[in-house]
Amino acid sequence: MSDSLVVQGGTPLSGTVAVGGAKNAALKHMVAALMAPGRHQIENVPEILDVEIMGRVLEHVGALCRRDGKTLTIDVPEHPIPEAPLELVRQMRASILVLGALLARTGEARVALPGGDDFGSRPIDFHIEGLEAMGATFDLRHGVLYGAAPDGLVGTDVFLEFPSVGATENLLLAAVLAKGVTTIGNAAREPELVDLAQYLGSMGAKIDGAGTSTIEIHGVEGLTAASHRTVPDRLEAGTYLVAAAMTAGTVTVSDCRPEHLRMELRKLTAAGCEITTSATSVTLTGPERPVALDISTLPYPGFHTDMHPQMVTLLSVAEGTSLVTENIYAGRFRYLGELNRMGAEIHADGQHVVIRGVTQLSGCEVDACDIRAGAALTIAALRAEGETVIRDAHHLDRGYDGWVPKLASLGADIRRV
Ligand code: EPU
Repeated sequence: MSDSLVVQGGTPLSGTVAVGGAKNAALKHMVAALMAPGRHQIENVPEILDVEIMGRVLEHVGALCRRDGKTLTIDVPEHPIPEAPLELVRQMRASILVLGALLARTGEARVALPGGDDFGSRPIDFHIEGLEAMGATFDLRHGVLYGAAPDGLVGTDVFLEFPSVGATENLLLAAVLAKGVTTIGNAAREPELVDLAQYLGSMGAKIDGAGTSTIEIHGVEGLTAASHRTVPDRLEAGTYLVAAAMTAGTVTVSDCRPEHLRMELRKLTAAGCEITTSATSVTLTGPERPVALDISTLPYPGFHTDMHPQMVTLLSVAEGTSLVTENIYAGRFRYLGELNRMGAEIHADGQHVVIRGVTQLSGCEVDACDIRAGAALTIAALRAEGETVIRDAHHLDRGYDGWVPKLASLGADIRRV
């Protein structure tokens, strides 16, 4: 039987919570380590399930991962095994990044097609097209993608159809060891990608423009192992801020980078929250009842799709009707039915979510269907009248380090059963 969270709603959160390193950066750093043989050290790595799974992917490839607290030491062999097996890749989409890394390092890659969260179809065509433009060839047999670049990858101009985070990262990894210059146009600009570029830079890669929509990479002959500290997790920070807002509490989120949450903080302010920031912290006081507002999810620096379920939850108790438009994923609405079972009045129409604010939610049994849905349902439960049981809590383990103890330290009545 799967784990559940039991939450007794109604306590305003208060206190300080420190966020850890970003899941979506640390996972990429682990793959990036494969680019250089020798001993790497990655600090500020969250203790979450996805990092464990990525550790197993690396071990399959021949690398050795050791954790000491939040520090991961990775020993990368001279000749990695160019293969990522289905049982691991199917559990986590981020493992598709080994494609670019292994092709660049070994001239071949056998990678099962990825799984991950159920947000509708999540193809990898941009990854493949970009790597093909760099000279790789691909063949899909029995669910496994066989990539080859026996003479090495060659730098070229790639212009992405959409600023895909994963495709930009895959091409970045491939390009740092390619011959000549690669330009990635319409590149993703996410802070985690900038962090990846910095880590690669400390290994000796030549990268310009990370964080802008055009990245230029001058390929080098080889890289050397390096150390890196992972950027703070803006999604973890944002999630605790919405939890504070939902309970009309006052919470300081420390060890974060407020400049990475500009759009989310703007929307929380528009919803009636009082927010002050320092260089590394955000303090938020939530309103008795939030104000309705409209949000569209967009690539960074727009409003993050991974903050959408949490924000819809906050708006479910707002005064007035809100509209949230999801522009990144075709399907991210399975959690809405669960929120409605708690008394919310929300309906989805195509990519739009219409939220008619209600005065109160009431606890019941709900199912978490992915990481952010699990976070959103916990946030709903923190305000709801009575007890909520959130089943399939393992989804939260994939993305939030210390979810239950951190919320409990802010005064939440929450336990795991
Ligand atoms: N897309 C394609 N073709 C491609 C690649 C992407 O059509 O070849 C589409 C996707 O289907 C999606 C959109 O483009 O509709 C954006 O996908 P993107 O490639 O940007 O996302 P990703 O790299 O697969 C990362 C995060 C996600 C986050 C998205 C968007 C990791 C491990 N995952 O996914 O994080 O939602 O960027 O910011 O970095 C999470 O942390 O909960 C999570 C799902």
